[in-house]
Amino acid sequence: LELKQLIYLDNAATTRPIINVDGFYREYAQNSWYNPSAMYKQAVEVERKLNDARKTLALPISAIPEYTLFTSGGTESANAAILRGFHLNGGKKQHFIVSAYEHAAVYASFQALQNMGHSVSYLSPEQDGHISEESLCSLVNEDTALVSIMHVNNETGSVNDIERLSAAVKRINKNTLFHSDGVQGYLRCPFHFQASSADYYTVSAHKVHGLKGTGAVFFKKNTPLKSLIYGGSQERGLRAGTENTFGILFFGEAVKEYTKDLEQKLEHIKTLNLSLKQKLLRLDGAYLLSPSENCAPHILNIAFEGIRAEVLLHLLEQKDIAVSTGAACSSKKKREDRIHKHLGFGTNILEGALRFSFSFENTLDEVDTVSNEVAYALTNFRKYVRR
Ligand SMILES: Cc1ncc(COP(=O)(O)O)c(C=O)c1O
Repeated sequence: LELKQLIYLDNAATTRPIINVDGFYREYAQNSWYNPSAMYKQAVEVERKLNDARKTLALPISAIPEYTLFTSGGTESANAAILRGFHLNGGKKQHFIVSAYEHAAVYASFQALQNMGHSVSYLSPEQDGHISEESLCSLVNEDTALVSIMHVNNETGSVNDIERLSAAVKRINKNTLFHSDGVQGYLRCPFHFQASSADYYTVSAHKVHGLKGTGAVFFKKNTPLKSLIYGGSQERGLRAGTENTFGILFFGEAVKEYTKDLEQKLEHIKTLNLSLKQKLLRLDGAYLLSPSENCAPHILNIAFEGIRAEVLLHLLEQKDIAVSTGAACSSKKKREDRIHKHLGFGTNILEGALRFSFSFENTLDEVDTVSNEVAYALTNFRKYVRR
């Protein structure tokens, strides 16, 4: 009931589960709770369902189901691909490249590599929020083991051309592996993994209407990958521990449901985004932080000069509108401006940055309400401050 009243525009932080959990849970508790590694037919049936989920996840990005690994989420997927996914080269210290505005899941993995003695180049995006092919290529050398460039930036929505960037890296060093964090890009921006030169693409269920605590790594045949976790030989030895079968089956169902009329859903999301953008940019002191071109359909980042984003966020919260000041994982800590700083915005603007993120469930009426409430909050706040 509460959810109905709330205008939820924080879909880059997490999305509402798409299917009826009660019905799904009953089915699971009756038929699908067996251990998929066991040998009797009920268990084999669960294993078959897991493999069906693999097919469902891989299909929309033309990945190969056999090379789709289930994990506990986007964070573990990125950790696994980055820390357990490169050729060890006899223990020799190697070179890595990562864009400087990655999510902490990726960024901290590279800091771990650096702490192990490897060298890491951090590549800043261009002013428009994209990673330049030329700057990336200038960093690749014969010792570069792995490159990681995110598909869609979770704060601004800028989209990187992963097909082009991964191909460019391989032209310079065919042995350099390429990972892309696809958590915000998966099923929001078109991408064909198998046809691309990327070696790993990592995703998370709860960003596409699945449940938290489930994710996947898509990888290529013959690409190195080892288990991050020590233990049993589940997932063909690539991820120890009994599978989160409930989360995985739910992930499959969510993707099946979400990808029905996906193009229409994305068109709707784009329309909502454009409408809110146009309305908000008419307001005094509004400043677009999302790129004006090549932006993901679901993310809109706008700063309002002269007001701290937290203040505006709480004023909107009082009106039952949920938005974000940035990545949810860092918004509880002191605001981490690593990402925006790399985009070259001044602090007076950064302090007022709000992220609005949409799902297919939002409506144009909600957009109208939000733009009116932002205008109202700004006017009142500024009046109060000036007095
Ligand atoms: C770009 C990006 N990468 C990784 C993650 C981490 O995913 P998860 O929450 O499933 O660990 C997130 C979500 O917060 C994200 O937005």
